[in-house]
Amino acid sequence: MSVRIAPSILSADLGNLWAGVETVLAAGADQIHVDVMDGTFVPNLTFGAGVVAALRRRTPAPLDCHLMVEHPETYIDRFADAGATILTIHAEATPHLQRHLAHIRSRGMAAGVAINPATPLAAVEEVAAELDVLLVMSVNPGFGGQEFWEPALEKITRARRLLTLAGSRAHLAVDGGVSRETITRIAKAGADTFVAGNAIFSMKDPAAEVRELRRLARAVRPEGATA
Ligand code: DX5
Ligand code: ZN
Repeated sequence: MSVRIAPSILSADLGNLWAGVETVLAAGADQIHVDVMDGTFVPNLTFGAGVVAALRRRTPAPLDCHLMVEHPETYIDRFADAGATILTIHAEATPHLQRHLAHIRSRGMAAGVAINPATPLAAVEEVAAELDVLLVMSVNPGFGGQEFWEPALEKITRARRLLTLAGSRAHLAVDGGVSRETITRIAKAGADTFVAGNAIFSMKDPAAEVRELRRLARAVRPEGATA
């Protein structure tokens, strides 16, 4: 499964959002990670479907929308209409995960589930075979620039095993504190998709960071390697 680098626009210069997105895409970013926060599920407010629609008007690139919201089912159609490519909802946000994943897929989007640091992998075990993306949070969601939660490494190892056992082709994504310092260990633990906000957009040369993160991840997971 090939490496995917997903810059998170949470840390981009919002006054020049498109310029930032264009830069990372030109540098080879595989998808743009859009962190959607509702001020309830997490103590912060960010973007809605309108921002996704605006980006979609500018680029055909995959838009990877991470919903950190209560009642995520309310927004599935809106994000589909806006042009989202991947829609990831939190396991903690709904008792009807399976139903909503089916809804997401029925709207032509890839379906993802995210789990917070304190949420056991068992929360996704029964839907593993129906997933396109399993997103393991390596910080408590809500803010960019937080420190990587080290126990996530062992959880990622178990997550990779779970996907393999379930016969799932889902991508295993990691979000929070991904940087030059942590990405090698994260890739070794079994992740193939790397979300990074601060590590890319707080740098003088975000394009160089995208390339460097890809280089480091590729060194662990060469193109064409399986699982
Ligand atoms: C955290 C968000 C992340 C965030 C990651 O709540 O889900 O996507 O942008 O930021 P960094 O890479 O700065 O830890
Ligand atoms: Zn995110």
